Amino acid sequence: MELAGKHLVLGLTGGIACYKIAELTRRLIKGGATVQIMMTEAATQFITPVTMQALSGRPVYVSQWDSRMPNNMPHIDLSREADVIVIAPASTDFMAKLAHGMCDNLLSTLCIARDCPLLVVPAMNRQMWQNPATQRNVTQLRADGVEVLGPDSGSQACGEVGDGRMIETAAAFEAICAFFQPKILRGQRVLITAGPTFEPLDPVRGITNRSSGKMGFALARAAAQAGADVHLVAGPVALKTPWGVYREDVQTAQQMHDVVMQVTPDTDIFIAVAAVADWRVDHVSEHKIKKTGDGSLPTFSFIENPDILATVAKLANPPYCVGFAAESWDLDVHGEEKRKRKNVPLLIGNLGPLTFGHDDNEVVLFEASGVTPVPRADKRDLARTLIAEIAKRAPKTGGPLLS
Ligand code: CTP
Repeated sequence: MELAGKHLVLGLTGGIACYKIAELTRRLIKGGATVQIMMTEAATQFITPVTMQALSGRPVYVSQWDSRMPNNMPHIDLSREADVIVIAPASTDFMAKLAHGMCDNLLSTLCIARDCPLLVVPAMNRQMWQNPATQRNVTQLRADGVEVLGPDSGSQACGEVGDGRMIETAAAFEAICAFFQPKILRGQRVLITAGPTFEPLDPVRGITNRSSGKMGFALARAAAQAGADVHLVAGPVALKTPWGVYREDVQTAQQMHDVVMQVTPDTDIFIAVAAVADWRVDHVSEHKIKKTGDGSLPTFSFIENPDILATVAKLANPPYCVGFAAESWDLDVHGEEKRKRKNVPLLIGNLGPLTFGHDDNEVVLFEASGVTPVPRADKRDLARTLIAEIAKRAPKTGGPLLS
């Protein structure tokens, strides 16, 4: 579980987006975190402490005069236990309080007394968000080292449309998970290909393969969580874009090649996970190919697709290149042979057809110095391990690396 062992104080302030925090709390707890809810009086107008207590499994704190703590100092004790304090939703008023160091209720006092990081998730009407006073407060909070997540743009509970609505709970959950990851790729630009390609035969048919894209998407997520600027080039897959990742969709190998070649000059690390079709038909029929009815079969002639990874690795000044190889047999021999053939420093091999579409995977790292097996793990955990291995090996570029 991603948040196992993490303890959060989740502070709710007054706003209609409070209803989203019930769902966020459930997700955080499912992710392994313990969650201490604290609410302002205004927040209790939007969702009850009873609901939040039932979901978090802990007593909820609202009043600064709450005497349940033996020393009567919940603002100190609850802050000391926290790995992070998350304010969601953060109202206009509460952000103003934070920016000015005011502490006239339990939650604002806790924030001032904290010795852990603070994340705020704003939620308000678009005019309130755009108000120069709010914008000044946001700038001040960022300057004080507070991480501000969002807001989103779109339709609002008040009926208006614009910036200010709270980011979706899934995004807030992802941002909180990312917060806990070491920023080992901060400042690095990572390009990842993922999924299969689709090579058309005619307007309705084509050739593809069984790659689900899960491994590539998990790597994109892990790289973004590690602080990288991630560009994901995806073949046809039914997967959600990981939080903080820039995604471009393509169909064919040639389209994937063209996007990759365009982005490569601005790339520090290229991770080719896509199961790229090796061939395409040399002539795609303009119309649907019909059955003849006389038993004769269509014939196709194929031409080879560009080898995207090998082409990038051959550039005069290539990014650090990582290949993937899904082999159905004799991985040890094929993996190292493929690494050399593609001229890449690192190739990650797995027994592919057995793991296509699965949520876990087991891989082997091939490099000039030898072979390192990586034990079977959930693709998300494995992705984090692989990103750590890649970060260790890739030349350091960009900004200062944090531990
Ligand atoms: N790859 C690529 N472009 C291609 C084919 C493969 O970028 N046209 C990349 C894949 O993304 C992967 C690596 O090369 O990182 C190995 O892919 P694989 O399909 O195993 O390699 P092939 O050269 O096609 O070898 P095989 O003969 O086993 O199919």
